[in-house]
Amino acid sequence: MVYNTKQNLMGTLYSITLFLHSWNRWLILIAGIIVIAFAIKGINKKSDYTDFQRKWSFIFLGSLHLQLLVGLAMYFFLSPLTMQALGDFGAAMKDSVLRFWAVEHAFVNIVAVALAQTGSILVKRKKSQKGKHVSTIIWMGIAIVLILAMIPMGMMGVERPWFRF
Ligand code: HEM
Repeated sequence: MVYNTKQNLMGTLYSITLFLHSWNRWLILIAGIIVIAFAIKGINKKSDYTDFQRKWSFIFLGSLHLQLLVGLAMYFFLSPLTMQALGDFGAAMKDSVLRFWAVEHAFVNIVAVALAQTGSILVKRKKSQKGKHVSTIIWMGIAIVLILAMIPMGMMGVERPWFRF
């Protein structure tokens, strides 16, 4: 009885976290595109790094950290896929779907969050306006490319709904 209740609780938590993680990807992508587009515009127009850019950069970083936190919770405690992979890592490496969730998706996205975080620190330190735009494009740009590659849209042989209801 206690076991079933615990199982139900974990199942509910899994549904909630998967839902949150799934929708938050759109906030990440929208914020990332705005951040990069306005940095490109800033270079072309030779304009200053604005408060608008600072605000969207903050939203981008915030949504990434939330994604990381929720992703880690699913990875270590809630997802049946990663639970299975962590149970027998050797066997999981031979299964492309389990390997995607246990290694590629998690690892590459952690690297992407670290790059975006490093970029945001460097952007703040840059003295010149152009330097701020350029650092944004390089660091956030690489992060967004890695994130896009790891979103399960079929590119890596794993497909998930674009909009989870
Ligand atoms: C930072 C950018 C990330 C993005 C954009 C992202 C995106 C996604 C998407 C779109 C899904 C599928 C959701 C669905 O089925 O509706 C997913 C699932 C998942 N992600 Fe992420 N993710 C990110 C980072 C991470 C990280 C850092 C981890 C772990 C350390 C992680 C762990 C997982 C797990 C465990 C699943 C669920 C697998 C399952 O049980 O079905 N994610 N992610």
